[in-house]
Amino acid sequence: MIEIAYEVGVYRRLLEEHVHEGDVVIELGPHTGVSTRAYAKKAKLVVAVDIGTESEEPFKRITEDYHQVHYIQADARSFDTIKKVMKLSRKCDILAVDLGGGRYPDTTFKVWGAWSGVFQPRDSIIRNRGIAEFLQRAKIKDESIVKEFKDAGWLAEWGRATPSKLREQLDEFKFYVKVR
Ligand SMILES: C[S@@+](CC[C@H](N)C(=O)[O-])C[C@H]1O[C@@H](n2cnc3c(N)ncnc32)[C@H](O)[C@@H]1O
Repeated sequence: MIEIAYEVGVYRRLLEEHVHEGDVVIELGPHTGVSTRAYAKKAKLVVAVDIGTESEEPFKRITEDYHQVHYIQADARSFDTIKKVMKLSRKCDILAVDLGGGRYPDTTFKVWGAWSGVFQPRDSIIRNRGIAEFLQRAKIKDESIVKEFKDAGWLAEWGRATPSKLREQLDEFKFYVKVR
């Protein structure tokens, strides 16, 4: 399933609830790892990816406390980061994305779309106020839309793209969003 949170506390609670014993979790934007600590002991493998330097110190301690946690300082918008994570695991049960809950709904959606297409997680948990407000307010007015999807944490339409196609999409994205 795909679940959207508005508040950070709700996001952390959803993560804690959805991670099952032995799961593989990819967390994009864990910051100081408060959300990661909420579920780490249950997971078999956690790959936490954050672009910011503020994550370094807290993740030194988290990776000491939980040997199954791997921290990568990198940009989630880059396909090279996806490739680094693929070296650690091709499987992902939970994909969690919080790139700054109040900001950048377009970036969050694109990043989640590409990562979920590659890893096809069982569940996705996303925190973003713009996406949450959009879903709350928008109504689909086209009866021809597919209504039943398999219960999985990725998009049946977009996610069927091959990794090379997803790479093209992310590369095209850099054209619009300046990557540091
Ligand atoms: C609001 S914080 C996440 C808070 C965290 N979920 C928690 O519960 O404490 C957002 C994080 O996303 C990271 N971030 C923003 N853009 C990113 C990107 N393109 N790639 C990786 N991390 C990113 C930021 O560095 C920041 O640490």
